[in-house]
Amino acid sequence: MRVVHVASEVAPFAQSGGLADVVSGLPAAQAETHGLEVGVIVPLYRGVASRLADAGVVLDPGGPLALQVGVHSIKASLRIARVGRVRYGFVDCAALYDRPGNLYGPGGAGEWHDNHVRFGALGAAALAGAPALLGGSLDVLHCHDWQAGPAAIYARLATKPPAIVATIHNLAYRGIFPKTVMDELGLPWSTFNQHGIEFYDQVSFLKGALAAADAVTTVSPSYAQEILTPQYGEALDGFLRWDVKRLLGIVNGIDTRSWDPKTDPALPASFSRDDFANRATCRSALAQEHGLPLGDDEPLIGAIARMTGQKGLDLVAELAPELEKIGARMVVLGAGEHELETRFTYLAEKFSQHVAVRIGFDVSLARRIYGGSDLFVMPSRFEPCGLGQLYAMRYGSIPIVHAVGGLRDTVTDGSTGIQFHAPTVPALRAAIVRAVALFRDRARFTKLRRAALSRDSSWLASALEYVQLYRSLRV
Ligand code: GLC
Repeated sequence: MRVVHVASEVAPFAQSGGLADVVSGLPAAQAETHGLEVGVIVPLYRGVASRLADAGVVLDPGGPLALQVGVHSIKASLRIARVGRVRYGFVDCAALYDRPGNLYGPGGAGEWHDNHVRFGALGAAALAGAPALLGGSLDVLHCHDWQAGPAAIYARLATKPPAIVATIHNLAYRGIFPKTVMDELGLPWSTFNQHGIEFYDQVSFLKGALAAADAVTTVSPSYAQEILTPQYGEALDGFLRWDVKRLLGIVNGIDTRSWDPKTDPALPASFSRDDFANRATCRSALAQEHGLPLGDDEPLIGAIARMTGQKGLDLVAELAPELEKIGARMVVLGAGEHELETRFTYLAEKFSQHVAVRIGFDVSLARRIYGGSDLFVMPSRFEPCGLGQLYAMRYGSIPIVHAVGGLRDTVTDGSTGIQFHAPTVPALRAAIVRAVALFRDRARFTKLRRAALSRDSSWLASALEYVQLYRSLRV
């Protein structure tokens, strides 16, 4: 079976969030353990080629692609690399992707004015390049999030389309553009209606993809249910209820080879679920690195997230002044909304003995936090899956999570972590107080830690679920 994943990010070459982890981990598992021919098609952004070179991956010069994307004639090439058993096709088009700033805009939350063209071209390139990438025609086109929407929409226009799967990693990002892009990108007006790409008289790339797909998946079973309600449906719940026939939640895995506390070079000491005495070294090193004094009965709490409303770090900020009274210390890592960044920087100055903050995206520090913290807090208001809690458990940090979406599905209260039931300061406070008491009960906490360290978060089971879905779609 030949499968191509289309996405805007893939770790570790181009990453702004959890999507990139999935787009590298899932295809690898499908190729390695299920014997599929798997490709991944992503843009060649600035910096990707040098990151590939650093990783020792050879990037083929590739064949030219002459793309007609609506009114735009675009010259690109598909540059091929092999990463393990997966073939990567990087769409090389300097005019569209070789830019400063982040993946989607010049910086901050700003967006490039031509993102519809950038991701329209990604879709066209994926369809034109997939057969060469995989050495034959495509059986399954797997599109991730709104940026891969045009791939799904264009594929649906073919006389013999492959099976099309669309995965929603976050419904909050719908890829909305003015309807003038219909003609500009050559999208069929027949889909411009409530059952198709139209969204309040504009265009939603995500909605277009969901309408074009044979099956839609989300990254956890709970999120698949939640998005059918107005509370989590982002104004698409009605459409999802009535127009999307096959909607399925498959929980994300993580790359347990790269994320292994036994071999992780980012950790000052290695440990495993069978022997985690060394974890104490990681803990004191983390506290020291951040200038936090730390008593034996004071847990060190970690928090790592994009600083956006979704992740609920504002609730954590509210509680920072109370940490002394609660008897815990905290390390926060993240970047995002300016206001929240400033607030955390201020808190770290004011409560320097209890709160340390690093603004940024730093995988190595993230690993030290997962491996050195005792508790890991995720008060997300909604969470399609969440990967932080999986990394935390894998590294023996006990997650404290709002019981929503994938957090609810992956953390078992009282066994591998702690759940709370409302994204509010009082609920979070109560959960942290409960966790601190647990931490002080050595025997119970060790049991919890062992259970968390033993949880199987590998891709094995979930990759198989996707393969079974593909098989069910092929007629
Ligand atoms: C998005 C979601 C997150 C999910 C990730 C990977 O970032 O917000 O919940 O884990 O995608 O699927």
